[in-house]
Amino acid sequence: MFNRYLSYLDIILEFISKWTCSPYLTGYFKDICSYFFRKPEALQHLKKMNFRIDFDAKLLKKQGYVKTYSEDLYKEFLPYIKKIDDHKFESIGRSKPYFYNFLNDQIGGEYYQKFLNIGSNSLLRDDLESVFGKLGFIGGGIYRSPGNSVNDNFPKGSQLWHIDRYSLKTIKVFINLSEITEEMGPTRIIASNHSIKLLKNSFFRRVFRRNNIAKGVKGLYMDKKKFAYYAKEKHGSNIGVPGTTLIANTGLCIHQGSNNRSSNDRFILLFHYCAWDRHIEKQKPDLLLGINTRFLK
Ligand SMILES: [Fe+2]
Repeated sequence: MFNRYLSYLDIILEFISKWTCSPYLTGYFKDICSYFFRKPEALQHLKKMNFRIDFDAKLLKKQGYVKTYSEDLYKEFLPYIKKIDDHKFESIGRSKPYFYNFLNDQIGGEYYQKFLNIGSNSLLRDDLESVFGKLGFIGGGIYRSPGNSVNDNFPKGSQLWHIDRYSLKTIKVFINLSEITEEMGPTRIIASNHSIKLLKNSFFRRVFRRNNIAKGVKGLYMDKKKFAYYAKEKHGSNIGVPGTTLIANTGLCIHQGSNNRSSNDRFILLFHYCAWDRHIEKQKPDLLLGINTRFLK
């Protein structure tokens, strides 16, 4: 019951944030409250998968992201991108033609099932939960950013600097399945402690101090000069050889990615977790029935 009221409040806040500070505010109030009032049980329905990624937990906690290397998961999923040769993949007509998941809707079947099993019940999830607390597994897959997929005049969506608005704890694990260079639109990320400072008073600045607004990037209201400095000098990325891994809380760290200017396709494996209990509630105990969130079909 209480949860339902929080959801209504969230809808109101979402409405307000659309014309005030989109996308900064949405979902956060309920997210914060859910920590205090409800701790959903984890789903423990499948045999635990023996996949994990070594990472510096202290550093991840401190700066909201960490760069590392994943041999196991990289080797497990690399052969799947060869499946692309067996299919005609079209990016036209997709909501994000510059970044789309083909493991889910183009290959699917047993391949996607294995991915879901690892994301949902593995040592990787345990390790992430030891840092962030209980997490819902939202989905993900193998994402392709086709070569020459960027239009410099009109960067869109996640090509712009942004934060993911689903939760204060939106954890994404990006694993390179191809080498990613500066040209290939790496994910760039600004540490959470810097991001928080940059976003400080973003909402109120927009509403009450209109004259002081410095519109750093579309939808986020920050000091333009400060932001430019961090965006240029103080960001991390997933530039690196195949297997290079970026684990990041994209709900707190300002980030952007997938501006692929090269002529080569860019492939990453992505696991997406979230602490927002609205998502955890919707997960069904049988993965074969699917996980009923907006991210999975
Ligand atoms: Fe994002």
